[in-house]
Amino acid sequence: MSTTLDTTTSDDLGVPAARRRSAELERQIRERPGRFRALTGDRPTGRLHLGHYFGTLHNRVRLQNLGVDMMVLVADYQVLTDRDVADRLAEHVEDLVLDYLAVGVDPDRATIFTHSAVPALNQLLLPFLSLVSVAELGRNPTVKDEIAHSSQSAVSGLMFTYPVHQAADILFCKAGLVPVGQDQLPHLEVARIVARRFNSRYGPVFPEPEALLSAAPLLLGTDGGKMSKSRGNAIALAATADETARMIRGARTDADRRITYDPVARPEVSSLVLLAALCLDRDPHEVAEEIGGRGASALKAVVTDAVNDHFAPIRARRAELALDRAHVRRVLRDGNERANSIAEDTLTEVREAMKALY
Ligand code: TRP
Repeated sequence: MSTTLDTTTSDDLGVPAARRRSAELERQIRERPGRFRALTGDRPTGRLHLGHYFGTLHNRVRLQNLGVDMMVLVADYQVLTDRDVADRLAEHVEDLVLDYLAVGVDPDRATIFTHSAVPALNQLLLPFLSLVSVAELGRNPTVKDEIAHSSQSAVSGLMFTYPVHQAADILFCKAGLVPVGQDQLPHLEVARIVARRFNSRYGPVFPEPEALLSAAPLLLGTDGGKMSKSRGNAIALAATADETARMIRGARTDADRRITYDPVARPEVSSLVLLAALCLDRDPHEVAEEIGGRGASALKAVVTDAVNDHFAPIRARRAELALDRAHVRRVLRDGNERANSIAEDTLTEVREAMKALY
């Protein structure tokens, strides 16, 4: 194997190069969206929050609406990496699908599916695992980070190998584009390496997928830390207007009454300003200027109204869809059926290339 997975430092993930390439890809997508298939997904760990919405969901709907063939994966096997038992998995899967549908992922144009229902996708994991070394798996910075922050008593084999499973997620449908955040770049590199090595060993089957980094603004949680459901600092997409108001009222700010947008010097205040600006589709500096010297309580009132107004239609749609569980199940069944047919075709090609069709 000539290519090595050189991912020893977590601060050098090739982000600037990936950003430049993403800008070029965006140009090509605008020109001929129908040429592209994109795959991305989420671990079903519960309801999505505003960070997910502005970070990725919004972008998926944008790509879908441009005419890109969107595949959206509910990663119900990958979720087993970060918990010992798949507690309330079915409920989390349903919540995730409801969030997708509520924000505008359209099952007539996008394919929503789950790992566990697509056997041919999972089978790709075995030949793929043979293409990477244990040392390479051990160097993946995202996995290292997850292991360091894991509450599990022991690192499971799945935790160690899930980037290769993720390569199967991407390659089974020959997705050329993977819209992700920069923490996923090492995984994308694994997928590219697996594709290259498979092709050179058995003949050309897989295109090399590329990351599509969105210019996702970083929203902090209400405590000023990384927004995360498990830290209790995230406003869920599905939160009520009252819950939203309560969370924003309790958000951390600082002692300076004059509101400004300065993410480096004033991260907490600026994140609130940014949240309002994103909901209002306005420039954060302007939003801050308008609030001026009226202080944190005026800022919080602006943010609360902006969030509740922006998400009212999404929340209403979600509540309506939640009453029709048969619809949610049908969406998944149809998505799984389509994913299976794609996966079976790819697996046949793989077995042909490996001369393993008996
Ligand atoms: N690893 C991703 C996350 O934790 C979820 C995921 C699973 C994914 N399979 C994928 C993302 C394939 C992009 C492509 O958020």
